[in-house]
Amino acid sequence: MKNPPQPDKTIDIKKEGVFLDQTLRPAKWNDYIGQQDIKNNLFILLKAAEERSQQPEHILFYGPPGLGKTTLAYLISKETNKQIKITSGPAIEKVGDLASILTNLSPGDILFIDEIHRLNKNIEEILYPAMESSSLDIIIGKGPSARTIQLELPPFTLIAATTRMSMLSSPLRSRFSGGTFRLEFYSDEEIAQIIKRSASILEVDVDEETSLEIAKRSRFTPRTANFLLKRCRDLAQVNKNDLDKETVTKTLEMLGIDTLGLSQLDRQILSTIIDKFKGGPVGLGTIAAALSEESSTLEEVNEPYLIQLGLIERTPRGRMATEKAFKHLKVKFEK
Ligand code: ADE
Repeated sequence: MKNPPQPDKTIDIKKEGVFLDQTLRPAKWNDYIGQQDIKNNLFILLKAAEERSQQPEHILFYGPPGLGKTTLAYLISKETNKQIKITSGPAIEKVGDLASILTNLSPGDILFIDEIHRLNKNIEEILYPAMESSSLDIIIGKGPSARTIQLELPPFTLIAATTRMSMLSSPLRSRFSGGTFRLEFYSDEEIAQIIKRSASILEVDVDEETSLEIAKRSRFTPRTANFLLKRCRDLAQVNKNDLDKETVTKTLEMLGIDTLGLSQLDRQILSTIIDKFKGGPVGLGTIAAALSEESSTLEEVNEPYLIQLGLIERTPRGRMATEKAFKHLKVKFEK
């Protein structure tokens, strides 16, 4: 009996762009603010491939969420005039899902796999020959009568993103021959520039001082900055006010975000370490259990920012709150 056709678990941006918020994503190198070293490297990599009429090699982006990994993939597709197909590690459940995605690619396409660390190991192995020699090895049958057939794939570029580099196997890591790029947190000034650019697209007036005020509470992260800008715009609109510093203060108060940009969960992490475990060291799993949260959420979403701000430290014996964290929560610091 023939297998039923597999659904293609990718999103075609052209057909379904409306479902992805593309309005604020930059489509030109000059509109992409910050990450200058990565931009310089990518520019050369892509230009050199174009001059040789070759397909650009596979690229891996890693770093905390919201720093623009998907945005870069989208930008690369725009700048190289190539079609991008978007999928993610958890969406690819079976070997057949990935086989179907790969065989449905057109020559020159970019395939973007977000959260690639969540790809199952036996599915991951299909990717190796696909990345190395654009071929797909399919095993037909089981046991002694099983045989492998090889399908040739069109040339394509895989762009993958992960927040958890350490979860990627080394054979997979080594196959990103175009390069592995770590996205860094943005400066307040870069975030303020992103806010001004987004404000002009959204047609709201925001002055220099106000955009810097939003930037300071944005966790050095464009996604958070754009989220806060939109929520401030909502409040200004509903209250028929300007989007000024006062609106920003009110909006952030309503969202439970403090002067350092900490969310309620960030503060709960700090107060758990400080109040329940005398400032640490305490294991991540213990903190997660105390807060009924998943360790991976705390590790991927909250910790990078808390560490960046110097509020917690990772030590071999667990997490520790710093003197700055005690001060921020107004708790007396004792060594
Ligand atoms: N949106 C997300 N990341 C961005 C960046 N680096 N520059 C401009 N807009 C962005």
